[in-house]
Amino acid sequence: MADQSPQIFRGLRGVYADTTTSSFIDGEVGKLLYRGYNIHDLAEKSTFEEIVYLLLYGELPTKPQLAEIDGTLRASRSLPSEVIDVLKVVKDSHPMDALRTAVSVLGCVDPERDDNSVEATRRKGIRITAQVPTIVTAHHRIRSGQDPVDPDPGLNHAGNFLYMLFGERPTEEEMKLMDVDFIIHAEHGSNASSFAARVAASTVSDLHSAVVTGVGVLKGPWHGGAAEAVMKMALDIGTPENAEAYARNIIDNGGRIMGFGHRVYKAEDPRAGHMRDRSESLSRQKGQPQWFQILSHLEREVMRPYQAKGIYVNVDFWAGSIYYLLGIPDDLFVPIFAVGRIPGWTLQCMEQYEDNIIIRPLTEYVGPMDLEYVPIEDRG
Ligand code: SDX
Repeated sequence: MADQSPQIFRGLRGVYADTTTSSFIDGEVGKLLYRGYNIHDLAEKSTFEEIVYLLLYGELPTKPQLAEIDGTLRASRSLPSEVIDVLKVVKDSHPMDALRTAVSVLGCVDPERDDNSVEATRRKGIRITAQVPTIVTAHHRIRSGQDPVDPDPGLNHAGNFLYMLFGERPTEEEMKLMDVDFIIHAEHGSNASSFAARVAASTVSDLHSAVVTGVGVLKGPWHGGAAEAVMKMALDIGTPENAEAYARNIIDNGGRIMGFGHRVYKAEDPRAGHMRDRSESLSRQKGQPQWFQILSHLEREVMRPYQAKGIYVNVDFWAGSIYYLLGIPDDLFVPIFAVGRIPGWTLQCMEQYEDNIIIRPLTEYVGPMDLEYVPIEDRG
């Protein structure tokens, strides 16, 4: 045992494990850059297809490059029959469990499954990015007793997701909403699921195994599961007048208000605002202003004192209300996060492969030492 206790950083809080060129996060001021570009520019001026290229190639695409990756995504959306068969087997499972299982089957049948080169990983990441929306929507339709809807090559990534989910062409505004949502969920440095995916890549395991790992970690309500919990909270609260008592009861009992707080951001999460305004206009448009009013009251009144402790809304606080107003079932909220995050997980794995070292931290042993082994007959 070491002469003196080592310094422990529980939750690896504040620990830098490596360098990265994926994204820059300044939690004190609420700043986020993807490959050097500000999230505010990307959320409002870019498209998810452009972000996939930016993340996986490190620069914004030219028109021909964008056309090529968009074409590859559209051509890669269909699922192998083995995946559809498995989705039928797990049709009554939680959509995140079904997604985790389906990605695992993709890994069994991918033609480059044994190639962990950076180039093959990029190609596999683009394929998984294209296929995950099809998995999420096909599983939902199968569990609902409906046939899966084949991808429409005439629609972009966001529009096709909604089309395969509902079986009808979404409006331009609905497609833009989902496109912005996928953009702001695409990458976020060493968050729990991306770090877990990097750990898998650091053992030189394959990308599909890393993505399965990421899905399993993202499912947790303290990470990806918050959007579903936020909307459940809003439905429980019912009216803005109930928000204060409801939140007080949770916090006084040691609970957490979902959609608030962040390990890194101690100012507002720069992604949240891109969904707040859209939630307000969609709430009005759908004739259900109460959801925006409830969540706005929570943010501006009830939780305002917590800003002094660096607790602000995070990316998931407003997203859930938008999904709800679009008619998306609440247990699909986390899978939507995964749809956006596939390029980020892929990039993190590519970075790990490029200059690999196995990720293996220490834990300080504080248990008993050198005990005598007593045969079972003598253990009383
Ligand atoms: C994302 O990491 C990423 O980058 C994640 C993400 C990404 O893009 O991948 O950005 C995605 O942001 C999703 C996060 C969604 N999760 C939630 O909304 C769940 C609710 N939030 C928390 O559980 C919490 O804020 C965490 C887990 C997100 C962060 O936890 P930390 O950094 O470990 O902070 P902590 O648990 O040490 O809390 C510090 C204090 C505590 O009070 P004290 O014990 O010091 O008195 O703040 C309090 C906490 O009780 N606190 C909250 C709170 N979050 C923290 N109190 C009430 N409600 C909350 N939501």
